This record gives sequence, C-alpha cells and structure tokens, in this order.
Amino acid sequence: MVGEILDAVARTAPEVRAGLPGRRAYGDEENPSGERRLAADEYADSLLEERLLALDSVGSYASEEQSGVVDDDGEYHVACDPLDGSSNLKSNNAMGTIVGVYDEPLPAGGRSLVASAFVLFGPITTMTVARDGTVTEYLLEDGERTAVTEDLALPDDPVVYGFGGRVPDWPADFAGYVESVEQELKLRYGGAMIADVNQVLTYGGIFAYPALDSAPAGKLRLQFEGNPIAHIVETAGGASSDGERSLLDVEPTDLHQRVPVHVGNESLIDRLEAALS
Ligand code: F6P
Repeated sequence: MVGEILDAVARTAPEVRAGLPGRRAYGDEENPSGERRLAADEYADSLLEERLLALDSVGSYASEEQSGVVDDDGEYHVACDPLDGSSNLKSNNAMGTIVGVYDEPLPAGGRSLVASAFVLFGPITTMTVARDGTVTEYLLEDGERTAVTEDLALPDDPVVYGFGGRVPDWPADFAGYVESVEQELKLRYGGAMIADVNQVLTYGGIFAYPALDSAPAGKLRLQFEGNPIAHIVETAGGASSDGERSLLDVEPTDLHQRVPVHVGNESLIDRLEAALS
C-alpha cells in the first residue's frame, strides 16, 4: 500500500515536470508561509492532491501550498512539498517534489514516517526513496521506475557543504562552525534543498538551512521538508539535527512549523551540535 503511494508520485512528478515550461509566472496569492506562489506551485499541488487522494491507502493530504489538511479514509497521511526550490524555475535550475508518508495524522513526528521520497528534476529525473531501512535511487523514464542505486549510503569522507541564509544573519556560534567547515569542504549551494541534499548524498558533506538571527526557526518546514529529508539522510547512514536533536525527534506542533535543518555525515552533525551547545 505504501508502494502504490510511491508509484503514484513516480508517475505524477514527471507530469509536473512536463507542465513547468508554461507556468513560470507568479500568481497573486501567497502560500501559508507567506511565499509568493507560482502557477507551477498550484499546478503541482492540485495534480498530486488528486492522484494521491484517489488511492484507498491515503487517509489525508497536506501540502506547503494549503493551510489545512484534506481528509479522506485511509491508513497513511501524506505531506507534500509539490515543488521544492520553486524559485529556481525562473533561473532554470534544479528543483523537484518531496513526499513524506506518515502512519499518524498530520502534523506528525518524524518517527511516524513509513516512507519518504524526493523526485529531483535535474538533467535527468530521479527519485530517491527511504523505506524499510534502506535508500534506493530510481531513474524515472517513460513512465517506468528503474532502480539505479540500491542501499544508497553517504560516502565516509565528506566533500561538500551548502548553507542557506544571508551570512550576516547567521548566529555567531553557527558562523564559527562554518569557519572550520570551510577549511575542509567545498562549497555547493544551489537554492533547492533536495538538489543540495542530493550533493551531500552523492559526495558526502553537510547541508543546512540554519536558525537565523532574524528567524530563529529558520526557513524550512518540519512536515514537508525537515522530516522527510532527515529520514532519507539518516536511513542512508547520515545524521540530522535541529541544533540539539535529530529532526525526527522534534515535536510537531503546527502543520506549517519551521525548523532549523542540518543534515549530513554524522561527524559533521556531531561537531555542529557541539558548536551550538
Ligand atoms: O522553500 C524552500 C527552499 O526553496 C528550499 O528548497 C531551499 O533550500 C531554500 O528555500 C532556499 O532559500 P534561499 O533562497 O534563502 O537560499
């Protein structure tokens, strides 16, 4: 049943991608987090909502684009970021779709995730899935999902880092940590979380959208971004943190709550937590 949800995402995301070229303009509305919505955000959200709620196993659908949860009858609750990194559409850079499949009603803690996935619209379309304790990368092509990397694991020796937010807005303890990381790793930041995290999954390293002086909870949302990406990185042998604890242990209080996100090799996350303590 979880499989049919992942299959629906694997079929729908390429359709979302195919519909992007004519939908680069901003509409008049904002999403519940106060960000301007593109025609593409609305399109991706309504297509995913329709396809996922059509499944018997889906008991509710929630997305970054809607203020409330849409309820139905079914065992699983799906939280979706229909177009992660959608501001990259204007500059034609990488972006994609994230889903978290929870067995508790939303908002739910990360330990209730039974599967998480992201579809990356890069030069090729791939889908990375964490399920049953293992991470698999699939190639999505001609309506087929083909496994290309099984038991995906973070490389032991980290190579890249990418941190969001304006540098003068970083709290002093985080800025101090960055100074040490910069001595060891190479900067890679593209402005779409899943694309930046995929660099970390591929080469090893750390991605963060940290707490900012102007926004102590950071930018990214726990249900739609923090939890699913932490689930994928932790299942691939890495670690996640809100600064103090695994993102999967952060208490869910609100559907659209934000959380500082740090994910990557365990040694780098341990050092981060020591620097922020
Ligand atoms: O809204 C989420 C998002 O697009 C993430 O995918 C990305 O990591 C972040 O925002 C980029 O934000 P900024 O434009 O501040 O670098």
